[in-house]
Amino acid sequence: MPFTLNYHIHHHFLPDRSYEIQATEAEVNMLVEQGYVIYERLFSPEQTARLREALDSVAEEEGHEIRSGKNWGGIFLRHLMDKHPAFLELFRFEPGLSLARAVLGPQVQVLPMTGRIAYPDTEGQATPWHIHQRVVPSPTPAFFSMPHVLDCLIYLDDVDDASGPLCVVPGSHKRIHEEFPTSPYHENLPDQVIVRVPAGSCVVIHGNLYHRGLPTTPQGKTRRLLILPYAASWVKLPTFGERPEKGLMEPLYENPDQETREMLGMPEGLY
Ligand SMILES: [Fe+2]
Repeated sequence: MPFTLNYHIHHHFLPDRSYEIQATEAEVNMLVEQGYVIYERLFSPEQTARLREALDSVAEEEGHEIRSGKNWGGIFLRHLMDKHPAFLELFRFEPGLSLARAVLGPQVQVLPMTGRIAYPDTEGQATPWHIHQRVVPSPTPAFFSMPHVLDCLIYLDDVDDASGPLCVVPGSHKRIHEEFPTSPYHENLPDQVIVRVPAGSCVVIHGNLYHRGLPTTPQGKTRRLLILPYAASWVKLPTFGERPEKGLMEPLYENPDQETREMLGMPEGLY
């Protein structure tokens, strides 16, 4: 059952907040302890088809070449909310936003959304084992900011063995001081779990969960994925690609209210 979470922010003029978290406490716990949680068929077939068409239309408009080679193949499309209204609607995607507020705190920002299209008949569509925030040093200083980012992986096509499923190592987001396998590394790791989900499903991962995408096969279909990340509102993070000028998000920057400011990574009252 969804539950209510009340936050008081200390030493701030902002009022207390109350959020309806669109997840069960067990799901929040799974994310915290295992580093991922699966929501099967979170989007209806109609919503999923609309997002799929939107991604295809951005891809066609931008005319990228399909990358082949050994790793990270296919097409990557950046800053999607600026490029198509179907993606801008996900700026206030409550399941992701509320889950982020449950684990990151009340002040959460929505980071630029990326799309990836992987193809069945092209080489190099697998991604090697990786984590997303590669910034943790050893030794870890006392006041080091842990790079906590949540990534909603929204699958717009069925993810099965033929189309190349997701592979994760549960709990690995906590193994911050272990040496990561030298990239590109495609071999099996102990305790890995293969995640297969139907189209319209969302797998939320901690950005530093060990994960990879298994190879596509000629028997599979095109695999379209959206990556919708969240971080604390006051965190500055590197992003990929350039935000288009006069994109669809532009009106959000005009007289934003407090919540929108936070979601755009511009919280008030830090100093
Ligand atoms: Fe990834």
